[in-house]
Amino acid sequence: MKIARPLIDWQKQHGRHGLPWQQTRDPYQVWLSEIMLQQTQVNTVLPYYERFLKRFPDVHALAGADSQEVMSHWAGLGYYARARNLHACAKVVVTDWQGQFPREAASLVKLPGIGPSTAAAIAAFCFGQRTSILDGNVKRVFARYFALEGDPSLSKTEKHLWTLAEQEVPSQQLLRKEPLAMTAYTQGLMDLGAKVCLRANPRCATCPLKNGCQAHAQGRTQELPTPKSRKALPTRTTRMLIVHSQGKILLEQRPESGIWGGLWSLPEIKETIAIEHHCQTQGIQILKLVPLAALLHTFTHFKLVIEPTLILATKPESNWLAIAQLEGFGLPRPVQKILSGLYEHNLLSSSLDDNGQCSSASRRQSQS
Ligand code: ADE
Repeated sequence: MKIARPLIDWQKQHGRHGLPWQQTRDPYQVWLSEIMLQQTQVNTVLPYYERFLKRFPDVHALAGADSQEVMSHWAGLGYYARARNLHACAKVVVTDWQGQFPREAASLVKLPGIGPSTAAAIAAFCFGQRTSILDGNVKRVFARYFALEGDPSLSKTEKHLWTLAEQEVPSQQLLRKEPLAMTAYTQGLMDLGAKVCLRANPRCATCPLKNGCQAHAQGRTQELPTPKSRKALPTRTTRMLIVHSQGKILLEQRPESGIWGGLWSLPEIKETIAIEHHCQTQGIQILKLVPLAALLHTFTHFKLVIEPTLILATKPESNWLAIAQLEGFGLPRPVQKILSGLYEHNLLSSSLDDNGQCSSASRRQSQS
């Protein structure tokens, strides 16, 4: 049984319709939403999306912007390569495409940061192109519908899923009759993956595809798609310094490549270097050192244990940043957590410069 007809009908009745990027066919806005929604939930994206569009309302505004400002509008969303690629992509669209996004998925996919599924989503939503998406949620829908074995992130399984997905795209005949069917179909796949065909406890009773779903028929929805073979994530440790004096702190810009590339962050030092020695080489005179509770931050490929130390210094340098200016500055999420924890304990007020006391809080966890 083909899925297009029941899926489109279901999307019209039960799918999502009120999201801001669904109210437009402007490829700039749709592209921005699709990049933000990669690996990030709708509710998290909403405020970022509004703020970003207000500041960078079109591709020219974004292409001409300063990269630090772009990064600061992304800070907290994680996966910062997306923001760097976003900026690079805007520049390419302006210089190579006269500011007009290409209409074909095959051209869109050549732009920085646009993968095959995102290219297909933009082409389908904005230009009604007959093409299929295949993001993580949609892989799960197809793996179950066809009871396809194999980890969907492996290229062999993924290829098979693309073939199946392409076979299910609404027919030319259907699209001639219903010009907006590509939008409903594409959004329907996303909505089904996000709201019904859930990883754990899928809501099969309400699924428009249950009559043709092979995993459902075989009672195998819990075991499909085949899970990734889980290797333990490696752990790295870093020490972060909160060097503070008179309401100011020392920040450093991270290198362009690697985690949090290009973002401003707290200075980090290797475990082998003594903090006192490091401060001496930087001309920082220490009044007091306060070791703080470690923080565990999980990235896709490794875990990072952050060991923060508060350093109360005698006086700030001219390039230190006033704490009042930190808001909206665009710091990595765990750094924001460390600083807001210090705020909550009043450890960043200038009165603590010469008598700061800090009890060691329990280990906290965060995720990128
Ligand atoms: N995730 C990716 N694209 C989306 C969209 N257009 N609507 C809701 N969630 C999404």
